[in-house]
Amino acid sequence: MSSSNESTQKTVTVALVLCLVCSIIVSAAAVILRPAQAVNEKANMQMNILAAAGLYDPNQSIADQFQIVTTRLVNIETGEFVEDMDAERYNQRRAAKDPSMNRELSGDEDIASIKRQAKIAKIYLIENGEQIEKIILPIHGYGLWSTLYGFMALEGDANTVAGLGFYEHAETPGLGGEVDNPNWKAQWTGKQVYKDDAVALRLVKGGASRSDMYGVDGLSGATLTSRGVDNLLKFWMSDSGFKPFLDNLKQGRI
Ligand SMILES: Cc1cc2nc3c(=O)[nH]c(=O)nc-3n(C[C@H](O)[C@H](O)[C@H](O)COP(=O)(O)O)c2cc1C
Repeated sequence: MSSSNESTQKTVTVALVLCLVCSIIVSAAAVILRPAQAVNEKANMQMNILAAAGLYDPNQSIADQFQIVTTRLVNIETGEFVEDMDAERYNQRRAAKDPSMNRELSGDEDIASIKRQAKIAKIYLIENGEQIEKIILPIHGYGLWSTLYGFMALEGDANTVAGLGFYEHAETPGLGGEVDNPNWKAQWTGKQVYKDDAVALRLVKGGASRSDMYGVDGLSGATLTSRGVDNLLKFWMSDSGFKPFLDNLKQGRI
């Protein structure tokens, strides 16, 4: 027996109305939540910048803590500050995908496996009067499964590591994902990047000796992620990355 409520037309109408109501709810939620999402994304990035420099305090507001940070743009090739662009609005990751704002990397140069590099980098400084206390640099490169995005923080001497942290990657938890392990991250603090003007900072398979000023333990069971981290550091600290900028700072040219 079939009542009139079970006609094909009514079933289709109910399904369509339900779809429409649901899609309106989902779209409205997406639109309403977008500003909150943007605020949270910004706060999350600021937290990662502070954390890389070892300055993040979870008991204080991120925005308040970030007051001490100055956001600057740097021309990667010349290592000079870019003054005629709005640093706050610049999106380096978007620029790395825009052929007018990036450059293609050749096979030999592209040890971080990123294919294209934004010509302008967004960096962060913590200053005390004229003195630079911390330099926080964005870094990224390919691990085993994913591109790892993070920050490398240096002391004002532009050579001593203040800290390192990745805020985005898809390496395996417990293996490559150990890049997030606080004990491993703690090893970076105090290491030196350059020896005789060449990048000496590296990951050491099997473990670095504690007296090694340039070596950090490779991740056990994750040689490929470790190699990725080693390569991306070498790339970003080299002439293709931030070396021209760091040299300019060291020599007081900027
Ligand atoms: C499911 C699965 C996930 C893995 N994830 C990672 C990873 O995230 N990073 C990594 O370097 N190796 C990972 N490996 C291991 C690599 O295949 C490779 O064996 C390892 O990098 C070698 O490191 P070892 O020489 O330190 O043992 C994974 C292996 C399996 C089976």
